[in-house]
This record gives sequence, C-alpha cells and structure tokens, in this order.
Amino acid sequence: MTIERILVIGAGTMGRQIAMSCALGGYSTVLQDISADALDAARAELESWAAGRVAKGKLDQATADAALGRLGQDTDLVQGASTADLVIEAAVERLDIKEQIFAQLGEHAPAHAILATNSSTLPSSKVAEASGRPEQVCNMHFFNPALVMKCVEVVRNAQTSDATIEAVTEVASRLGKNPVLVNKEIPGFIANRMMGAINAEALNLAHAGIASIEDIDTTAKTALGHPMGPFELMDMVGLDVIDFIAQATYAETGDAADQPHPLITEKVAAGKLGRKSGEGFYPYS
Ligand code: 3HC
Repeated sequence: MTIERILVIGAGTMGRQIAMSCALGGYSTVLQDISADALDAARAELESWAAGRVAKGKLDQATADAALGRLGQDTDLVQGASTADLVIEAAVERLDIKEQIFAQLGEHAPAHAILATNSSTLPSSKVAEASGRPEQVCNMHFFNPALVMKCVEVVRNAQTSDATIEAVTEVASRLGKNPVLVNKEIPGFIANRMMGAINAEALNLAHAGIASIEDIDTTAKTALGHPMGPFELMDMVGLDVIDFIAQATYAETGDAADQPHPLITEKVAAGKLGRKSGEGFYPYS
C-alpha cells in the first residue's frame, strides 16, 4: 500500500519530532494534540530547530520551508484521522487513553489505514482490539531525540499482518531511519531492555557509594564510548518516564529486579524529573 498522509497524535517531546521527521521524509503530516498551546509550542520549537539547521548549513532553506509547509496541526483527532494512511500515536502513556484513541481511530480512519503506537511500554496488542482492525496495528518505537536517533523498533503483535510490517518498515526507511524488527512482544523491546540493564547497574554502583554519578557517566563515555553517561541519559529521557517504564515492566514480568530503583523513586517524589523540570541527577539552567 502507498502511504502519503501521516497523522501523529501527541505534540510532546516525541510526537513533535516524529511529526517533523515525517514532514522531512516528504509525507503530508498532521500533528494532533488536544492542547492548542502544546501544538503552538511544538511548532515554535520545530521552526527554531529548522532555522538552526539552516544556519549551520545542515539543511537548505527550501527543504526546511517545504517540510514545515507539509506539517499541519489540529486539535481535532477525528478530522486528522479521516484522511490518514498511517497514524503514529505518541500520546500520554496511559492505557485507558490509548484505548479510547484507538477506538476512535478504528471508527474514523480510512479502512486501509495502519495504526501504530510509539509506546515503549504498552505493546500494541493492548490497543489492537479496541481499534477493530488488529492486523493493521503495531508498535513503531522512535528514540529521543527523534530527529536525530536513527533506530525505529517495529514490533509486531500476534495478529499484525506482514503487509502492515512491510509498510511501516518502508516508512521508517524513507525517514532515513534504521528500522529493526521485533518479532514478538516483550516488555521494553530491544533498546529499553539494554538501556534498563545499564541504568540498573549504574544506579546500583551509585547507591552503594562505589563511585559518583559524574565518574560513572565519565566511565560510560570514555571507557565504553557511549555518547552520554547513564545518568545524563536518564535526565534527558525524564526520570518519570524511566520510573514508568520500570513500573510497567515489573507489572508484566513480576521480576523484582525490574522494579523502579529507590534512587529514581526518590527523585520523582521530589519532583526532580531531569532536564524538563530543571533538575534530575544534575541541575539544568
Ligand atoms: N533535538 C534535536 N536535535 C538534537 C537534540 C534535540 N533534543 N539534541 C541534539 N541534537 C542534535 C544537534 O543539533 C546536533 O546536530 P548536528 O551534529 O547535525 O549539528 C547533534 O544532535 C549532536 O548534538 P550535540 O553536538 O549538541 O551533542 P552530542 O554530540 O552529545 O549529541 C545526542 C547529542 C544526539 C543526544 C547524543 O548525546 C546521543 O546520541 N545521546 C544518546 C541518546 C539516546 O540514547 N537516546 C535514546 C534514549 S531511550 C529512548 O528514547 C526510548 C524511550 O522509550 C525512553
């Protein structure tokens, strides 16, 4: 099937950059959010990002203008859904809200439309039935910052059709991403499982007083060649998101090792959520 129009639901950190990636990939894209303010903030950030790229000589003005011209915004889900060939849902990580969204999409999106969720914690099987078209539902999991990170995990559920996987994989490739196929739903898919293991070890080392968070981050960067240390990365992703991923994984596996780490619980309780709140493991101005 040919995908030309994409609806991205949720103008948060992930949704806005996914939408811009789609527009840069040549797709007619609508970014939808129930909050007009969130849409305006997303637009302003993306315009500023594009201007920065142009100023650095990494994007030409015509390409930036064309992409921003292809990117619309709407507070009405039904309107955006009615013409979409592919929907990428990047709304808040709450199952009840996602179920409602997928039920609406099932009702209003064209019969051929594929419905993907960017969720890293809720496998698509949880919302597939609500959509009434489970074979056209999968996870399409991007990474933060989505305009930069190349990997997209394409995760099939037991009912996802091959045609759906092929179409979503092709879109990811056209966005300049490296799609990887996850053949079976598993909490955390591939990347978050590996990140979780590194984070858990880093948190344990810090908690036991073996080394400071700064030195653990320095070790990850200068001994292992990671672009960021685990504490810097957790601050960027958001400690509330790290906490939520751990809770969702623990609920699924029942493995005590998957429970949120006390250092994370402590930070979240204190409202120290990372970069977005001005402080996490590090302070941000
Ligand atoms: N948005 C858009 N672009 C950004 C950006 C952002 N938030 N942050 C950095 N960039 C761009 C910069 O503009 C720059 O572009 P250029 O080289 O073409 O000019 C490029 O990224 C490099 O940025 P910097 O030079 O400022 O800094 P770094 O070289 O340290 O790179 C980074 C920043 C790309 C974030 C790099 O540190 C990195 O790859 N970190 C690891 C990120 C990671 O692991 N992400 C996955 C998180 S897990 C996840 O998302 C899953 C979810 O389910 C939780």
